[in-house]
Amino acid sequence: MKKTNIKNFKKTLSKFITGITVVCVKKNNKIYGKTVNSFNSLSLKPPLVLFSLGNYSSSLNVFSESKYLSINILSKNQKKISECFSGKKPVADSSNFEEINENIYFINGCIANLHCELIQKIKKGDHVIFINKVINVRYNDKLKPLSYFNSKYI
Ligand SMILES: Cc1cc2nc3c(=O)[nH]c(=O)nc-3n(C[C@H](O)[C@H](O)[C@H](O)COP(=O)(O)O)c2cc1C
Repeated sequence: MKKTNIKNFKKTLSKFITGITVVCVKKNNKIYGKTVNSFNSLSLKPPLVLFSLGNYSSSLNVFSESKYLSINILSKNQKKISECFSGKKPVADSSNFEEINENIYFINGCIANLHCELIQKIKKGDHVIFINKVINVRYNDKLKPLSYFNSKYI
């Protein structure tokens, strides 16, 4: 057993396999996306999900100020989209997106998409937890998920 430090804490958490999502908002005619694997379910009644963004994130303000957002669960062949939205200068290719509602965009080809309303933000440690009410959903039973394990896509 080892006393926790940042290195072994990160390594330990990397042993928890996750899916990959891209959270998206539109502001000032621009779509912002961020790759996150801190997505999780929170409640069935009401339907709530959460994810967290680091205090360091360049898009924290944009997401904090948006009332509605989409959460897009990536499929196996969408690694490039994950890489794009975890990069420093993500370029949203509009052909990847479908307008669902005013200012709500879903990424096409995902295993599932959720249209959400941001209802609460909680600052904890070096992250902000975003709690979201799910309004509309879409899913595809045929696609396989993109997964992340041991700091690698699998
Ligand atoms: C697989 C994967 C999962 C990630 N999950 C999160 C997450 O849950 N929360 C977060 O704030 N950043 C997460 N990131 C990092 C962001 O995508 C992004 O790289 C980071 O916020 C730095 O970019 P920025 O300063 O432009 O926001 C993840 C990155 C990868 C590759």
